[in-house]
Parts: sequence; C-alpha cells; structure tokens
Amino acid sequence: MTVLPLRPDLAGCEPYGAPELDVPVRLNVNENPYPPSPAVVSDIAQAVARAAAGLNRYPDRDFPELRAALADYLAVESGVRLSWEQIWAANGSNEVMLHVLQAFGGPERTCLSFTPTYSMYPEYARDTLTRYVTCPRRDDFTLDVDAVTEAIKRERPAVIILASPNNPTGTALPLDDVVAILEAARECGPAGVAGTDGTRDTHCVVVIDEAYGEFRRPGVPSALELLGRTDASGGARYPHLAIARTMSKAFGMAGLRLGYLAASQELVDMLRIVRLPYHLSAVTQATALAALSHRDELMSQVASLRAERDGLVDWLRQQGWTAYDSDANFVLFGPFADREAVWQGLLDRGVLIRVVGPDGYLRVCVGTPAEMERFRNALIAVTKEDHV
Ligand SMILES: Cc1ncc(COP(=O)(O)O)c(C=O)c1O
Repeated sequence: MTVLPLRPDLAGCEPYGAPELDVPVRLNVNENPYPPSPAVVSDIAQAVARAAAGLNRYPDRDFPELRAALADYLAVESGVRLSWEQIWAANGSNEVMLHVLQAFGGPERTCLSFTPTYSMYPEYARDTLTRYVTCPRRDDFTLDVDAVTEAIKRERPAVIILASPNNPTGTALPLDDVVAILEAARECGPAGVAGTDGTRDTHCVVVIDEAYGEFRRPGVPSALELLGRTDASGGARYPHLAIARTMSKAFGMAGLRLGYLAASQELVDMLRIVRLPYHLSAVTQATALAALSHRDELMSQVASLRAERDGLVDWLRQQGWTAYDSDANFVLFGPFADREAVWQGLLDRGVLIRVVGPDGYLRVCVGTPAEMERFRNALIAVTKEDHV
C-alpha cells in the first residue's frame, strides 16, 4: 500500500514505452537505421565543446538561431518559407505536443483524435487533465471527413490531433481533407469561450503530426503549404493550424531529442507561455544546429529507405499478407491469428518489431537492406517452423 499521494487517475498506470531489448535487429521504434557519419559526429563534438565552455550560463530561452535554421530546413524540404517566429521546438515532438495540450487543453477541454493512431496522444491528454475523445478511421485508415466534421461539432474540441503519415498505419492525409477539417474547426472550439476579438467562439487548434513527413511518397503534399496561405486581409488563413515535425526519424537524430512545430506566430507565442524556462539545453541547441548544417548528408538515406519500404510492402503482399501502403518508414502488416507468437518468434531469431495497431497486425520499421533481409528470413521461418 503506497503512502504517496499519486493522482487517483494515474493509479495503476505504467510508464509508456516499447520494450528496450538488446537484439541484433531493432525495427520497433521507427528510427533511422543509419548512424551519423564520422564527419557529422566530429562537427557535433566541436559544437558541443564550444557550448560546454559556456555551461555556467543558462541557454538562450527563445533560441532564435535554431528556430531560423529549422525554418531554413523546412523551406528546402517543403518549399514553404516561414519566419523563425513561426517555429517552436522542444525535447522531441512529444514535448512540443505536450506544450500544445498545456496551452490549449486542460480541465473541461477536449482533445479529439482518430484511431488507430499514435498511442502517446492519450497520454498528453491525461497529463494535462484534458478529456481525450477518439473516432474511428475507415477500414483503410483514411478519414471520413463528414464524420470528422460531425465529431468536431459534437465535441467542440480545443485540440484536434491528426497524424499524417499516421502511426501505426502509414496513411497520409490528402490536403483537401486537412482543408475541410480546418474549415470545420473554425469557431468550433470550446463552447462559450470568447475569441481574441471578444465576441466569437475560438477555432479548434488542428495539429497535423508530420513526424514521418519526409518519408511521404512523391506527390503526397505536406500540410506546411497551408501555412503560407493568407486571407483577404493578408493575415494567416489558418491561424489555428500547427504542424509538428521531428529530427528523430528521417533526420536520424532520435537520440538528440529535438522536435519542432510550425504555425502562426500567434499560436507559437501561446506555446511559449507554458514552456519551462530554458527547456532546451545549450548542448541540445548546439547539437541540433550542427546536425542541421549537415542536413543533406543526414537526409541522404531517405530515398533508399523509401525504396526499401515500398519493396517491403510488395514482398509482404507476395507472401500473401495484407500490407498497407505507407508514407512513413514502417509498414503495418498481417493479419496473424496469434500476433504475439509471431512477434516472439521473430525476437527469438534476433529481430525486434512492434505489436501495435488493429488486432492481428504487426508494425515493422524499415532498416538497412541487411536488416530487412534478416527480417524477411525470420518471418518466413516463424510462419513455417513455428506454425503460427
Ligand atoms: C506519430 C508520432 N509523433 C510523434 C512521435 C514522437 O517523436 P519524437 O521523438 O520527436 O518525440 C512519434 C514517435 O514515434 C510518432 O510516431
């Protein structure tokens, strides 16, 4: 019996996280399998050494240099030029999203999302005492925009979170759907809350979580281009749109913990209210800046990872399984009568993947060609030898 006053709603909860197992082939948390080159490592080490010489001081609270470098990166990656004031960053996009829920969620407020989706969303909501409501996606994991509109009207959420590409399904949202949802979100925020002009209801904040955005297939747009759109008076057409990105995936910097968000300056300034002072350490800022200066090299494997992913989808289908089209660096496949047994059989053969998503399905992340060969061989062995 504990004597500690844990919040009653946290009683019995376990800390979130996939099993961290030391096995030869780790394909369970959607990392980039390629480590940084010695040249990148050396530049980062020098940048960290320079930062270390000033560690007696607190870091820059607003870090304009890093935000400008992230804006430059987005301009190259998505062709959308944003100001540094439109960028926010924190320790992983997990923390960025927590800032969003801290600023806009809270008691008596609702966060709406669409399942199956990333399993941290309910945790951000829980931790900020925000009500978390979900609606199902269609069977192919796309969104039924009419149903989304209905849900928005019914729930009047403060925050809507849409992962695109979605985890664990790999599904990207068409821009038309995002636009329709942004329009439905206008003046449909928490009931009875006056907007900034003192008379109208607020808009719901719509977060498009593009953690896997760089892996999207050619022709699949990023919602970033909507941030550039203006209304008749020249203001932001979608002041309630936020796009979350991360350096953890395509960028190959999961260990750095640097996530970021692009939005209207008004929205970003509201996130600044809830951040802890100096939340982004000087070492993190220096490392991220050094890594961003090598963006071409760090991103050079994205094309081959995409090709490997498409090959994996084809291969899984040839074996007779269902594998969903993916715009991310992972593939959802199945169904298996006993997915836990398949997962365990793969693990016994040195390959760690993830049990997540709809019943019977598993998610595998794209690794190096050698890792994928090992995965394919192990999967065949599991299904033939273990009869699962
Ligand atoms: C959809 C989605 N969003 C956000 C994240 C969190 O990424 P980060 O490492 O930036 O916190 C993940 C991580 O797996 C993810 O799958």
